[in-house]
Amino acid sequence: MKIVLASHNAGKQKEMAPILEQFGVELVLQSDLGLHIDVEETGSTFRENALLKAQAVMRQTNMPAISDDSGLMVDALNGAPGVYTARYGGEGLTDEQRYRLLLSALIGQTNRAAHFYSCIVCAFPSGEVLTAQGVCDGTIAFAPMGAGGFGYDPIFFVPALRKTFAQMTPEEKNGVSHRAKALAAFRSEFEKYCREKNIHVDE
Ligand code: IMP
Repeated sequence: MKIVLASHNAGKQKEMAPILEQFGVELVLQSDLGLHIDVEETGSTFRENALLKAQAVMRQTNMPAISDDSGLMVDALNGAPGVYTARYGGEGLTDEQRYRLLLSALIGQTNRAAHFYSCIVCAFPSGEVLTAQGVCDGTIAFAPMGAGGFGYDPIFFVPALRKTFAQMTPEEKNGVSHRAKALAAFRSEFEKYCREKNIHVDE
């Protein structure tokens, strides 16, 4: 089954495509369909924002559309930046400027606990919606480490692997990440949905 990704984030595309492929889903990029919509994230929760993005793209394409809304919650900042992770520090900053700002906000702070959260929503033209979520617990490093990945990867440290996301191979990150966990939960929802509707995924 072909599902359109409601995102222009190349980092998310790279992580999601190989996982979805494992259960017969071909991820189609908006750009491959000549679609360049940018949906305003006006929701107050990850789920609301994921739903806004997936439904907008599903309506434009009349195809199932999947979106990920994700963010970083830092304990010492009472869960911030949360749904505002992509906009942390305001408009027009680079990923590096944003994570450096977060590092400055935590100077002198010994509680470095943080959690990356992902909400996956898939919206079908029939109006049906599947939702799944995943969390990865970690800490905010004292300085950026590693060159892989995207976004806040250089400062998100996972104690179990003793590496930041940016120091992991794509396979390692997909073994522990919030998005990979959300996609694993999505897989069971999706397979149940397909069984109930008698849909053959490889068609
Ligand atoms: P969204 O596109 O609204 O979901 O924005 C998510 C924000 O969280 C962006 O700033 C992303 O860079 C960041 N983000 C989400 N997932 C990850 C990740 O796996 N690694 C690093 N940053 C991430």
